Amino acid sequence: MQVNKIKNSRGEDTVEVNYNGFRGSAPGGKSKGIYEAKDFLTNIDDEISQLKELNVPDVNIFDDFEKIDNITNNLGSTARIALEFAMFQYKGGYKFLDGRKLPRPLGNVIGGGMHKDNSNLEFQEFLIIPNKAKTLKEAVENNLKFHAFIHDKLKKPDKNFNDEKTDEGAWSPNLNNEDVLKLLKKYSGKFKFKIGVDMAASSFFKNNLYKYKDKELTKDEQIDYINKLIKKYDLYYVEDPLNQDDFLGFAYINKKALVVGDDLIVTNIERLKRAMHLNAVNALIVKPNQCGSLFKVKEIVEYAKKNNIIPIISHRSGETMDASISHLAVGLEIPIIKTGIFGKEREYKLNELIKIEKELSLK
Ligand code: PGA
Ligand code: ZN
Repeated sequence: MQVNKIKNSRGEDTVEVNYNGFRGSAPGGKSKGIYEAKDFLTNIDDEISQLKELNVPDVNIFDDFEKIDNITNNLGSTARIALEFAMFQYKGGYKFLDGRKLPRPLGNVIGGGMHKDNSNLEFQEFLIIPNKAKTLKEAVENNLKFHAFIHDKLKKPDKNFNDEKTDEGAWSPNLNNEDVLKLLKKYSGKFKFKIGVDMAASSFFKNNLYKYKDKELTKDEQIDYINKLIKKYDLYYVEDPLNQDDFLGFAYINKKALVVGDDLIVTNIERLKRAMHLNAVNALIVKPNQCGSLFKVKEIVEYAKKNNIIPIISHRSGETMDASISHLAVGLEIPIIKTGIFGKEREYKLNELIKIEKELSLK
């Protein structure tokens, strides 16, 4: 098998597999959950050498976990996902699966946290999701239009704003969290979107306190603060508002919003079950390389839907030119895709969805 070492959008090394002429490559995270599967079990060069020698049986990656797991036993999730994405593309992408529904695109316009050095913003991502668009194409265009529009509005509150961007192509001005929320709220009606925030709170949780530039909050104070923000800014979506171990705390976050577990669940069905049991979340992020298996992705998506938990398929901050998550969204009928707005790796995934939308409308 042909296997290459390539760079992701952050300039880090990752793996690209060419399986019978079809390519798959794995993304990489930066604000990773501590319970995620390991990217590499040894190191990238060793795992590329192992992949090259693999004798891959013609299996259904969504059904036959054992067979694929047996041959990838010594590989981390980067190599596994690059291989499985390539096999998925070889099988025809979404056409290999039963579903045919398009997701809604959720994308970040402003951000900070671990996705930008020295950011003033503790919250990692400020997101928008169009709520009136009639087609996926219209929704994608709406997001892009607002991304450009808000750029021009940032110069006024941040005189020194110089087009700084996060790893995911969102603008990163020198403002505080609530300045940004105010701005988004102001334009949400005109541009017809709902507001989301990925707080990625584990990244500023230290010694049992949530550390902001201007304050330190205890766990209970953080819960009150998040619930206040949900109300005040009419937040539709809050991801990881609390530390990645705080299942009990999540239960107190107002479920009027989508309360989304990313680092909390790490695409792990046992952690999802625990969260459901405690009413901790009503939605979860699904990242294939958090678990390193498309069988497990399908399993957790189906389990979530059956239990009225909304699955949201997601990119990583270090992305590649691979659109497998777009195909998974359609083929597994995942209602929301979180894959940014701007930058060639993100737009590639969105354009793939627009292509699929066109294909499906011709039938
Ligand atoms: P990561 O973060 O890809 O850098 O881990 C993305 C997220 O927290 O949603
Ligand atoms: Zn997240």
